[in-house]
Amino acid sequence: MTLVLGSSTDLDNGYRLSMELSEVMRTTFSCRQWTDEPVDDATIYRILDNARFAPNGGNRQGWHVTVVKDRAIREQFKPLIKPATNQYVAQVAAGEAPWNTIVPSAIDLEAERSIDKNFPGVNEMIEAPAVLVISVDLSVVCSFDSILDRVGVISGASIYPFVWNILLAAREEGLAGVLTTYLSYAEAEVQQLLGLPEHYAVAAMVPLGHPVKQLTKLKRNPVEDFANIDRFDGAPFTA
Ligand SMILES: Cc1cc2nc3c(=O)[nH]c(=O)nc-3n(C[C@H](O)[C@H](O)[C@H](O)COP(=O)(O)O)c2cc1C
Repeated sequence: MTLVLGSSTDLDNGYRLSMELSEVMRTTFSCRQWTDEPVDDATIYRILDNARFAPNGGNRQGWHVTVVKDRAIREQFKPLIKPATNQYVAQVAAGEAPWNTIVPSAIDLEAERSIDKNFPGVNEMIEAPAVLVISVDLSVVCSFDSILDRVGVISGASIYPFVWNILLAAREEGLAGVLTTYLSYAEAEVQQLLGLPEHYAVAAMVPLGHPVKQLTKLKRNPVEDFANIDRFDGAPFTA
């Protein structure tokens, strides 16, 4: 299947205008640097108009998008994100998987959250040409794992395909962005700031714009590393 990218001629490396779906999947990278070129409302509308065909539990379509245009609101995101990224950076420095619910941390997380550390890209994201906050109506989401004694996973399946569709649709427009989740750390404050009802969970903040550079080589593990036959410890699945 060949996709035609709408306005990709403005990418500085002259990336191809048309590409296979598999190539799109292999090259939709996390973009954190954008040119100053604005993104107009018609483009954002087209992106959302394509993204809305994402799968979701029971087709209840609990997603909501706040297109955050007001710079003053965006600025207020920065201090809300800060404790979450402080902990993230501290855990990475300690060799831990940040914000993990299985492996206990060996460091004082509460203390680390209040110690200022640099988390690259946050300011650029807040200042991106477009910023979308995607929330999901938990009153319509089917959470089949809600009785399990572990962190919920299934609820996310009704919103992240939609978020990923936004990034794929953006790619078709010659735009790029990144799925970020740290805004959820301050969910109550974000709900208040954006006027979201209490049962709308903050799922992602996605900054979008024209990428300074289109990356084409993403680092991912090969299939044999994560697919096995019949059992988790079965033979690696190969072609
Ligand atoms: C659930 C999720 C949360 C993420 N949160 C952040 C984030 O808060 N900040 C950020 O810069 N990138 C975030 N990312 C982007 C990842 O860092 C990125 O997908 C990963 O490093 C691979 O990079 P690549 O897609 O450019 O190859 C997130 C991605 C996912 C799927």
